[in-house]
Amino acid sequence: MTDRELMELAIKARERAYVPYSHFKVGAALLDAKGQVFLGCNIENAAFSPTNCAERTAIFKAVSEGVREFTALAVAADTQEPVTPCGVCRQVMAEFFDPQMPIYLGNLQGEIVKTTLQELLPASFTARALGTGEGHD
Ligand code: THU
Repeated sequence: MTDRELMELAIKARERAYVPYSHFKVGAALLDAKGQVFLGCNIENAAFSPTNCAERTAIFKAVSEGVREFTALAVAADTQEPVTPCGVCRQVMAEFFDPQMPIYLGNLQGEIVKTTLQELLPASFTARALGTGEGHD
């Protein structure tokens, strides 16, 4: 699957966003090691803080289906510059992603910026700090 194909899936996933408060739709497409794709959208809440971002929706869907090995993520929103993940999502990514795994940030104009978690969240806090192994129990 190409980066553009994965981004197209993120743009499609965005259509399912539940955003009555911000009206800001985000989509994510997470590719696993077997070639399966997990889609995610943001899901907002009247109490605001329970809102789940598109990236976390995709990651939690995959993990809850028993998948923890990922090879790429695409995120899309209707932004001038390709959208960048929030800090909470970056921390969740740090739990499961290889720091060098490609992360594609995009917008509806077709721009795609390739980055990594190493760039988005250097010196991240992980299971290593807890001394409890790799955090993959
Ligand atoms: N949001 C995402 O889903 N992903 C991001 O990368 C940035 C922010 C959502 C959360 C909220 O529903 C809306 O965008 C506005 O912050």
